[in-house]
Amino acid sequence: MAVKFEILRRRSASDPPYTQTVIYDRDTDTTVAEALKYINAELLADDPVSWEHSCGQKKCGACAMRINGLPKLACDVRLKDFPGGVITLEPLKKFPVVRDLIVDRSVIFDDLKKLGAWLTEDAGPDSTGSAYDASRCLRCGCCLEVCPNFYAGGEFFGAAALASAARLISEAQGSDRKRLYGAYNERFYRGCGRSLSCRDICPAGIDTERLLVASNAAAIWKRLARSRD
Ligand code: SF4
Ligand code: SF4
Ligand code: FES
Repeated sequence: MAVKFEILRRRSASDPPYTQTVIYDRDTDTTVAEALKYINAELLADDPVSWEHSCGQKKCGACAMRINGLPKLACDVRLKDFPGGVITLEPLKKFPVVRDLIVDRSVIFDDLKKLGAWLTEDAGPDSTGSAYDASRCLRCGCCLEVCPNFYAGGEFFGAAALASAARLISEAQGSDRKRLYGAYNERFYRGCGRSLSCRDICPAGIDTERLLVASNAAAIWKRLARSRD
């Protein structure tokens, strides 16, 4: 069955967007990423759609875009997952558009820098399940796209930052741990509404609820311990 792609395009951040329709008349047992490659090579060779991709295996997060209205990895979803015969492709909306489906996600890394998400002391030996979960984050931004409380440049850093903070909190020692608790409180705990749409959308399957519970529990135990000192 032919699939009608409706692709939201824009030449640059300052140009107006327009929708381009492309009929893809091939096997639907393939990913959106593979279909886009074909479209660019065979159907739009004179004016290919700009988009980011690298690994093709759900490992890098580069190909995140809105597919039929929801943020997904183009290399993770197959055309036959959308039986309606129409697939819309749009850039993520929470980040500035660079061109076509490419957005500037540098805010994710800027927020990690502001969070101070690194260790200056030796990490402890006890890597927990939460730390493993958190380490799988692709920085794709899908969780931020559906988060009602995140906007680029805001005080609340969202689940992408939670994943890093949760991992480091579980491993940090001494003053690192104290600093990370403070940053976690300020940049995540106070602003999170616990709606958990981030957990449901994450293409890496990161259980953000589990990370939240573990980090919140650790932060509260620390506060209680301090009040008893
Ligand atoms: S937590 Fe999941 S959705 Fe959010 S940036 Fe990491 S991999 Fe992407
Ligand atoms: S639980 Fe809700 S408010 Fe908190 S980070 Fe996830 S989507 Fe955002
Ligand atoms: S190309 Fe790397 S996740 Fe899709």
